[in-house]
Parts: sequence; C-alpha cells; structure tokens
Amino acid sequence: MSTVTFDSNIIPSFPEESAAQASAAVRPLAAVTGAELQAPLIQGGHVRYANLDYGASAPALTIVSAYLNEVLPYYASVHRGAGYASQISTSVYENSRNIVRDFVGGRADDSVIFTRNTTDSLNLLAGCLPQHDGQYSGEVLYLDIEHHANLLPWQGVPHRSVIAAPTLAATVDKLRAELAQGGVSLLAVTGASNVTGEILPIAQLASLAHEYGARIVVDAAQLAPHRRINIAEADVDYVVFSGHKLYAPFGAGVVVGRPDWLDAGTPHLAGGGAVREARLDSVSWATGPARHEGGSPNVLGAATLARATQVISGLDQDAWHAHESAIRSYLVEGLEAIDGVTVHQIFSDSEDTIGVVNFSVEGFDAGLVAAYLAAEHGVGLRDGRFCAHPLLKRLGLPSGSLRASFGVGSRLEDATRLLAGVETLKLTGLGWDYVVDEGRWVPANDHRTYPEWAPNTPGTAGAAPCTVD
Ligand SMILES: Cc1ncc(COP(=O)(O)O)c(C=O)c1O
Repeated sequence: MSTVTFDSNIIPSFPEESAAQASAAVRPLAAVTGAELQAPLIQGGHVRYANLDYGASAPALTIVSAYLNEVLPYYASVHRGAGYASQISTSVYENSRNIVRDFVGGRADDSVIFTRNTTDSLNLLAGCLPQHDGQYSGEVLYLDIEHHANLLPWQGVPHRSVIAAPTLAATVDKLRAELAQGGVSLLAVTGASNVTGEILPIAQLASLAHEYGARIVVDAAQLAPHRRINIAEADVDYVVFSGHKLYAPFGAGVVVGRPDWLDAGTPHLAGGGAVREARLDSVSWATGPARHEGGSPNVLGAATLARATQVISGLDQDAWHAHESAIRSYLVEGLEAIDGVTVHQIFSDSEDTIGVVNFSVEGFDAGLVAAYLAAEHGVGLRDGRFCAHPLLKRLGLPSGSLRASFGVGSRLEDATRLLAGVETLKLTGLGWDYVVDEGRWVPANDHRTYPEWAPNTPGTAGAAPCTVD
C-alpha cells in the first residue's frame, strides 16, 4: 500500500498564527477505534482517513471497544434467565441506567429508558404526551431549526412551530410570546444545532417553559457528546440522545426524565417484558422502563453507551473545551480566508458552538465538494440538508451545504487536510471527473476497492439520508 504524504505548503492563505495556537491545544483527547484507518485516493495511494463526520456517527472510543470485548463472553438474555451469564447481563443492563442517569445529572426518580436512538426516544415521548378523555392536554412547541427527529414526531400530535429569529435573544422572546398564549404542554428544543453547532440556552428555556406551565425536552444528540449536561440543575424535564454520536456505535439511544408521563404513556413497543399481566384480549402494562422496552433489550448497546458516558465524564473540562474550540477556530478562520467560501450560522449572537462547522464553496455543489474531498483528499464529511429541511430552506441553502464535525479523537491535521482540499479546489479545480449517480456525486471510473467483506463498490452505497428530494 503506498501512502501519500500530505503537503501543507499547498495552503497559501492560511492563518499561521491560528495554526500555531491550535496545534498547541490539539492532540486527540481520547483514543478512538479506527484512528489510523487508511483511505484509498482516486488518483492512487492511500492517506490516513480524516474523519470530520463525528456529528453523524462518532467512532468508538477504544476503551468502549475493549469493554465490549470484555462483556461479550457474558452476553446472554436480559431479565429472562437464571443462568450465570444471564444474571450478569441483566446486572450490566440495569446498572447502565444508573450510569446514564448520573451522566446527565438526573433526579433520583427520573426514568432511564433505552431505545434505538434519539429518533426512537422522541417518538416514544410523543406517545406519552398527557391526555384527558382521549384529548391531548396541550400542544408541542418547537423551532424551525430542529432536526427532523425533533420535528416529525410532533406533527402527529397537536403542535405549533416558531421560526427562529436572527438572534438567540430574539428567538427566546418569540418562544416566550408563544408560550404566553397558553396551551403548550411541551417545548421541544435541540441542545445544539446539528447544522451549525450553535448551542441553545437550555436552562433559560426550561425556566421559561415552566413559567407558562409547559415541560421541556432537550434533544441532546449533538450536545451530549460535547458538553456536560445536568438536567436537575438546568431543570430540564426530559433529555434524549444516541450512543452512536457519543462514541458508542452499538445501537442504543436513551430518554431520561420525569416518570409520570412515561408511566402513563402508550407503551412504545408492545410485547414481552412490557406487561404486568397479559390476557388473551387485554393487558395490564408495566410501569417504569419496562413499559417501553418490549422484546429482548440491546444489552451491549446500553452497556457501551453507559461506558462511553463514563469516559466522557472523566475528561478534563478545560482540556476538552480547549481542544474543540482550537480546532473550530482554526477551521473557521481557515475557511473564511479562502475566497468564495462562506461559513453559515443561524444566530448572530451565539456565544458557544460545539465542534461543527457548516460551509459552502461558491460555484460548486455541496455534494460534489464532499465527493471530491473524499476521493482526492481522504476527508470524510457530510453534505446535504442534514435532516433539517426547513432550516436549510430558510438559510437560503435549499440544495444543501457541507458540514465538518469533530470530537475527542480529532487532530489538527484533519482540519488542515480539509482546508488544503478546499483551497486546492478553488485554485486548481477538480483533479478528476465526477458524475451524478442515483442523486449522488461520485468519481467517474472509480477503481478504488472496499475490503472484501463490504459488498458494495465505492459510489454505489446509495444517497445520504435527507440529501435528495
Ligand atoms: C440534533 C439531532 N437530533 C436527532 C438526531 C437523530 O439521531 P439518530 O439518528 O441517532 O436517531 C440527530 C442526528 O443527526 C441530530 O443531530
């Protein structure tokens, strides 16, 4: 395998000072599985894969991968067996709830329910909105900046939406005005935008919701992998997130929050384990997490999610923030220094942003830039509309943009490689021909190969979700 050495001299307009500052703070904070993965280049050779797509799914922490291997020999049925391995699996699964509750600073009586992912968690909560005599007691209120996971589940119940204002301050005012009209039972809000990474003032919104008799759910799919959350302190009623964005890509998500609605709500998965007593044509449902966790639970998903939260909780806060903000500033300054590149944000007064940078390159379709960066520079990032169609439309980006996202395993060199790729594109153009195949830009005559156990060949893996119309 030949390896291509990356030439950083190719970036003429790079802010040297910011690179120097950033490199001091930027070493991976924690080891991740696949950190040395080699990606084939379209013009031949290989480079270390620059993973700038943590916001979609983050790589597994090596501690979490090792833990998985440790637990695997004990893998057995949960809640259903008297055998030694079953008992251990059950203990690991149940203890994962306590670990996750601690991670989010949950109250002692908060329910911790394991799901498949954030989408599943929000759909579960949508089935638990309070009702009286078959009528919903109020509406769900949400902003237009939400990921579809925090938008579509509410369309099936009484709801109201608010178009976010150009500033966070004015957006909070708009939400206040809407809440003041009354009739809202739940404010559903993201902790951080999956499109731009901007953080919302969760504690302030929780207090606002409560002032008007509503509860709040925070979609922390993006926030939890980047900031400590304390729902008791922030007085947040429900929080949801996914293991696969939190360095535990083994298929679990979670909802943590006040038990009353959850215990009275529609069981999310009717079936074994979710009942107190089942009769031929009637049932008494269980309360607690069991009510919503019908079927055999994903013990390894829950266990690895819990283990990942312990690793994340153990990070030095200052080092964590310095690492992330150094890469982010370096990337934003570098991108803004390139002619024709625009960095997007929602609010002009955002004070804090997670490791996400959203941008467009003038004259190039976002999907083409993503395909080029992958094929010619070994950079993985996300393009498209990020499952946030209303926001992208309002930002004037109806055909999408690009998103670089990073986390604890990221290095400054990942950002440098992206900047070099974009700079080269603007200076010398594409180095290969690209065609649109099934709605996706792909290199023409792609001769790269996948490992033999991966069935597709490059370019045939299908369109990204929420990318195409
Ligand atoms: C803010 C936000 N909410 C919800 C989701 C959905 O998460 P999942 O795909 O794990 O259900 C995502 C995924 O990108 C997200 O970024």
